[in-house]
Amino acid sequence: MILYRSTEIRPWEEPVLSIEMNQKNGVFTLLTKNSTYQMRVGPLGYLLHNYYGRRCEDDFGYLHLERDCGASPNPYELADGRSFSLDTMPQEYSGSNCGDYRLPSVLLHSESGISGVDLRFVKAEIQDGKYSLNGLPSAFDRGSDAQTLVVTLRDEATGVETDLLYAVFEQQDVITRAVRFRNTGKKIVHLEKAASACLDLPFGNWDLIHFHGRHAMERQMERISVSNGIQVISSERGSSSHQHNPFVILCEHTANEDVGECYGQMLCYSGNFQIETEKDQTDSVRTVAGIGQRYFSWQLCPGEFFETPELFLSFSCEGFTKLSQNFHRFIRSNVSRSPWTYRRRPVLINSWEAAYFDFDEDRIAQLAEDAKTLGVELLVLDDGWFGERNTDNCSLGDWFIDRKKLPNGLDGLIRRVNEAGLKFGLWIEPEMISEDSVLFREHPDWAIRVPGRKPTIGRCQMVLDLTRKEITEWLYQTFSSLMRENHIEYVKWDMNRCMTDLYSPALPPERQGEVSHRFMMGLYELIERLTSEFPDVLFEGCAGGGGRFDAGMLAYFPQIWCSDNTDPIARLKIQQGSSFGYPISVFGAHVSASPNHQTGRSTPIGTRAAVAMAGTFGYELDPSKLSHEDKEDIIRQVERFHGLEDLNREGILYRLTEPENIRFTAWQTVAEDRKSSLLTLVLTEPEGNPRPLHVRWKGLDPEQNYHVAWIQYYGCRYWDEEKLPERLSGAALMYGGFTVPRLYGDYPSIQILIEQE
Ligand code: GLA
Repeated sequence: MILYRSTEIRPWEEPVLSIEMNQKNGVFTLLTKNSTYQMRVGPLGYLLHNYYGRRCEDDFGYLHLERDCGASPNPYELADGRSFSLDTMPQEYSGSNCGDYRLPSVLLHSESGISGVDLRFVKAEIQDGKYSLNGLPSAFDRGSDAQTLVVTLRDEATGVETDLLYAVFEQQDVITRAVRFRNTGKKIVHLEKAASACLDLPFGNWDLIHFHGRHAMERQMERISVSNGIQVISSERGSSSHQHNPFVILCEHTANEDVGECYGQMLCYSGNFQIETEKDQTDSVRTVAGIGQRYFSWQLCPGEFFETPELFLSFSCEGFTKLSQNFHRFIRSNVSRSPWTYRRRPVLINSWEAAYFDFDEDRIAQLAEDAKTLGVELLVLDDGWFGERNTDNCSLGDWFIDRKKLPNGLDGLIRRVNEAGLKFGLWIEPEMISEDSVLFREHPDWAIRVPGRKPTIGRCQMVLDLTRKEITEWLYQTFSSLMRENHIEYVKWDMNRCMTDLYSPALPPERQGEVSHRFMMGLYELIERLTSEFPDVLFEGCAGGGGRFDAGMLAYFPQIWCSDNTDPIARLKIQQGSSFGYPISVFGAHVSASPNHQTGRSTPIGTRAAVAMAGTFGYELDPSKLSHEDKEDIIRQVERFHGLEDLNREGILYRLTEPENIRFTAWQTVAEDRKSSLLTLVLTEPEGNPRPLHVRWKGLDPEQNYHVAWIQYYGCRYWDEEKLPERLSGAALMYGGFTVPRLYGDYPSIQILIEQE
């Protein structure tokens, strides 16, 4: 029997694309092109999760049999029957302290002394378009490509209401989720956990794929079996972090790139997060994702509301490739708001690995002139141009020109760079303050630190308290003037330390648990102001390499520096890991010097370029130190890249090798219309008497013939030259595959562009 707490379910009024509400049985069905997501109002108004998986329009309520499960409690009203327990039924958004011992989505205590929530259905409403969130990055609709379902639940004891927000992007196969908390009670409530979403998968054997790492080795894919107990992927570092990415995949044991069911979950958030996975007593699996819990609490006064960050969900029954493609398309079309998203990006040269702190106006102008002869279009002056910044232990916050290095100011330098025929870009690190800086001497209280305790230092710097309006306003004034007064066409926005010592003098004691989230809100507002005031400036995100590589940042910045590790062989893993969730069009990737500055490894310049071409492409080296041959090579690389830009930016990505393949890595981009495709293969482990290097192309038109438009070998080829067929059908390339000519030596690679006849 279904007991409704409220009968406010609005009957279906208008024809809809993707959300169905069935008033009779209390079922809500969200439909995307290839998936169905379903929930229902169950006994006593509990919102139960019915199903998420392949598209199918049936009512899946029949799946979840109510049964007496020893040691799992029953709601008071049903205790006689003992057949219904929140501890065993799949929940749509789990409560706490009310009979479900699995992962809670909410933890709170009220000043009345009550803790936990028992959430029951109040009403549901369908809205046209996509809901919006206040002050947080989130996906947006394009006209009529999204529809919203708002399901309101209420905890009677505290008066806390939650609006569960769902937006269905039917064509993109993506559902977004977030939660709005409202305190309708009379007492103050302290939220201690406020997840963006909960997802129960009651049946099946699942693996968890996540992307962990460290500075200079980000987003290493790991696949583990979901075992009984709880696994947590999280960051409590104040940013989404090098260590864990806020993106996970749950997949069947047998899933691979091409087959198997998988669920992707991506948080659109750049601060502390956690994605928990629990396998319970009945082998049911639950994930709960949202803001990191450890340092979080939020005071919700009567009448106030709080919105969580957004989670993107996508389902694929065709393996990881399809799942990744869903996220790639979605990020480009419905997350990245930058006008640069679909624009060609200039090939840049960055001064960091070319000169580090050791430069002056002449050296940078020379770098621009040398780069121009290679076909480079934009010069980025990295760290070291301000205050007395000759090492990384001072001057952050002193955003005025170092006249010793740049006697004619930024203006004078930019003029010379522009005269050389290059655009000019600049590195900044707004969120930071060095102890040794004028700013710190004037405003020591602007740094985040705990009173009475020596602050932790990271890279000799501290973090500015962006929870405070006067500080974000000062940053806005500082950087908007800098950009208004100088012809800056690109900005690299860096952030080089993790957050500790959370405390803000601007907040009362009971709100200190809000610091890290308020910091993020302050940061997002600042970035929003600057990016919208300077829409033609190309912004690149960065955080000690890829320490804040997430959808939250991608809402504002069309590209993010992937990693401080520019070694192409290390980059294979970093970029491949990143590609599971994020499109290659957002990967900041450069060709740097050999031997590589981070690993000491030597690689052919062509291989370095081939890997960087699966990204925004640029250089990070001193051209004056290059051999004549390397310079000639670079000229050809830039030309080649221009021909590949559209394919790289908007093409469909296929990973042709699994991460376990230590012999070689191959990937492929295919144009939307399937008329052209680029294959890149890098040999990572040369063999004596080598086995054939064989790959199957993907995503081509089987009916069409393709010819090789060009083929490039980088590094050595085997002495024995094998002949390649000049023309093959898409079917042959995909079903029979393709045997790559033998490659020889240290890290050779090959790029092949094929085109339809
Ligand atoms: C970080 C960035 C680098 C470079 C340095 C400058 O590490 O990731 O690319 O900009 O800072 O200090």
